[in-house]
Amino acid sequence: MNKINQISSLVICTVLMTPYSYASDGFFDWMSSTKRMKGIEAIDDKVYNEECGACHFAYQPGLLPQASWKKLIDPKALEDHFGDNAELDAETHKHIETILLDKAADKSHYKRSRKIMASLDKDSAPLRISEIPYIIEKHDELSSKHIKDNPQVKSLSACAKCHQNAEQGEFDEDNVRIPGFKQWDD
Ligand code: HEC
Ligand code: HEC
Repeated sequence: MNKINQISSLVICTVLMTPYSYASDGFFDWMSSTKRMKGIEAIDDKVYNEECGACHFAYQPGLLPQASWKKLIDPKALEDHFGDNAELDAETHKHIETILLDKAADKSHYKRSRKIMASLDKDSAPLRISEIPYIIEKHDELSSKHIKDNPQVKSLSACAKCHQNAEQGEFDEDNVRIPGFKQWDD
């Protein structure tokens, strides 16, 4: 190849590759975002995680529809929250309410939030994640020895006891370990 040809092929290559490399960056962004969109949106908010994670796993807003959170976050309801007082001061309340309503399952594009919504009747507003048909169905092969009678778990509501990446919003069956059981289907 002579010099002119070398230079011109370099120029042609650069010109041809430029849109391609933009497109491929876009492609990888797209790939990684769909990967992130697989579970439930994780909540990286210190106030939320501290206040709503004080007594139990800090359930992600994407686990329940907005209508459920509206009932749960009502200040009167928080005074008697499943028998506990989970009252919040006005400023914290506003902060947490905004997160819950903005990121509720029906506002989310994450795969499992969509499946949760698809399994619920329109207008239904369960107060418990463990009452959602999709969640019940996903656990129907487990029995009381895994949950209720398992002193290390006690309740299906204790998501993070078994789902090792629950805090990241990842609930895949590949990353489940039931305390006290080698394999979950033992
Ligand atoms: C003072 C302790 C306490 C605090 C703080 C608290 N909770 Fe709870 N929460 C409970 C108890 C107790 C239950 C019932 C647990 C059970 O029956 O297994 C519960 C249950 C729940 C459930 C139902 C879980 C299920 O599927 O069974 C949701 C949703 C929930 N809490 C959300 C929140 C949110 C959001 C916040 C923050 C605003 C919060 N909680 C703060 C004590 C608390
Ligand atoms: C006793 C342990 C345990 C607890 C507690 C638990 N899970 Fe699970 N979960 C499992 C197991 C085991 C599977 C896989 C079941 C199967 O494949 O049949 C599973 C499956 C799932 C799946 C479907 C995963 C997939 O790959 O399709 C979702 C979503 C899920 N759990 C969410 C939750 C949420 C949300 C909570 C809390 C409200 C919770 N789980 C509490 C053990 C648990």
